Parts: sequence; C-alpha cells; structure tokens
Amino acid sequence: MNKLAVKMERQARGVHHFNIEHRDDMTVLDVLEEIYRNHDASVAYRFSCRIGLCATCMMMINGKPGLSCMKRAEPGCDGTMSLAPFLKGNTIRDLVKEV
Ligand code: FES
Repeated sequence: MNKLAVKMERQARGVHHFNIEHRDDMTVLDVLEEIYRNHDASVAYRFSCRIGLCATCMMMINGKPGLSCMKRAEPGCDGTMSLAPFLKGNTIRDLVKEV
C-alpha cells in the first residue's frame, strides 16, 4: 500500500487534508469510505448504485466532474487528489448536493 494525499473542500468547514492508505485498484468512493471509517466520520458524501448508473456520487475530482464510484483514485498534477462538491446545484454539506 502507498499513501495518497487527499484535499477536500468542505464548504463552510473549509479545506481538509487527509493522508490515507491507498491501493491501485481503489475508486474515489473507496477513498471516501476509508476517510469516513478511519479518519473522520463527519465527512458527508452520497452514493447509491456503485455501478455508474444513478449519478448520485457526482463530484469534482481533481478539478473535473466525475462519478466517485467509477473514477480510479489518483493524485492530480500537484500530487494530491482534490475533491469538491459538483459545481451545479446547492451544496447541503461537504460533497453532498441537493437532489
Ligand atoms: S453511486 Fe450511482 S453512479 Fe456512483
């Protein structure tokens, strides 16, 4: 396992940084679950189908829109994987958008 640096924009709670254990086959959703289970259980994110059909898990991943359940977790140009809420719609909390 390697370490993966993660930067998460959490709206009113600011930008938080995590350094997690990382496997090459992990999706972004896997990383969020690792953060939730082992680093910060207050992190809010949303998912449902886990197979790329519902789009509930849409967010900005390294500056581009993507489905966290389908996108492989990897660092961006600056060596950190950045996560932020999807740009459209109201953000309820952290990475969770109003539906
Ligand atoms: S959880 Fe349904 S598309 Fe990602």
